[in-house]
Amino acid sequence: MFKGIPAEIAGIGIFIPEKILSNADLEKIVDTSDEWITTRTGIKERRIAPDDMATSDMMKRAADIAIERSGINPDDIQLVIGCTATPDMPFPSTACLVQHKLGLQNAAAFDLQAGCSGFLYGLTIASQFIASGAVKAVLVLGGETLSRIQNWEDRSTCVLFGDGAGAAVIAPAKEGSGILNFSISADGAFADALKVPAGGSLMPATEETVKNHMHAVHMDGRDVFRQAVTKMPEAALKALEELGMTVEDIDHFIPHQANIRIIESVGKRLGIPEEKTIVNLQKYGNTSCASLPIALCEAVESGRIKKGDTILLTAIGAGLAWGSIILKW
Ligand code: ACO
Repeated sequence: MFKGIPAEIAGIGIFIPEKILSNADLEKIVDTSDEWITTRTGIKERRIAPDDMATSDMMKRAADIAIERSGINPDDIQLVIGCTATPDMPFPSTACLVQHKLGLQNAAAFDLQAGCSGFLYGLTIASQFIASGAVKAVLVLGGETLSRIQNWEDRSTCVLFGDGAGAAVIAPAKEGSGILNFSISADGAFADALKVPAGGSLMPATEETVKNHMHAVHMDGRDVFRQAVTKMPEAALKALEELGMTVEDIDHFIPHQANIRIIESVGKRLGIPEEKTIVNLQKYGNTSCASLPIALCEAVESGRIKKGDTILLTAIGAGLAWGSIILKW
């Protein structure tokens, strides 16, 4: 339950790579079809970052916009949280690289790993640094270059993901706005459902691991699906109930953009009508940590989300780690 100084998203920005990889393009790479991908996932196309661009570069571009929109003095940003499953390298943290690129000399920086829930976890942690009064402003980054960790011979995974980045500046809320509540959870019993097996201490890189695509995404799609459609509604209801709110009080529902069938199922379980649900996965696929900020930012930019609207965010990802946030824009 949220306690302390209320925190809000003071500015949000995104970076979307230009290059489009359509389902028709994928038909030329693996044995798949636009029909299969569209009916099973809802995805029509995804974006691919240029070869010379890393996750930190995309995060930096998104952060430039977020900081400018926030009106906050960059010197007041005292913490940078980098949320990504595709860091530039194992260490140093991608957050440190972005901190340097932005010249945020007063900011501490670290990465957090919560799979596709990274940005939601990041917002939660940022809100607590604001709530305690420990810092003046936090920059939360959510970015992914998932095209770099695909096995382009595995049709069951490579069709799902895309590249992109988002960034949000979190600061003390003006009256009435801000993060109202959050709920975050995890269960490592499902660690095998979604992972990159090699490249860490358990399975260091060898010629074999590279040859066997062990540095790419491995997923038990059905298991992830089953967990996603139960755990996201549970987190949403917990966060709502603690506030004494119901789904009726929600103006916009922004779920993690992984699969349209998951989104529809979660919406149905919660009783949230389709017209309140924000969906953009047809354009970008699953961008993991960038998924929520891209959907939120686009909805704000288009005027769909207006000042004072109540928004429900929910996500699940590798870990498994999942959660929900309720905020007033
Ligand atoms: N094109 C054509 N056929 C395919 C493709 C493809 N791209 N991928 C798999 N198939 C085939 C399979 O080989 C299988 O064939 P078979 O019956 O001859 O063996 C058949 O389609 C069915 O495969 P399933 O894996 O059972 O298909 P399913 O209906 O479960 O859909 C999917 C797969 C889309 C991955 C689904 O399980 C899903 O969405 N799971 C959620 C996972 C997810 O979204 N992960 C993203 C990361 S986690 C997160 O962000 C929450």
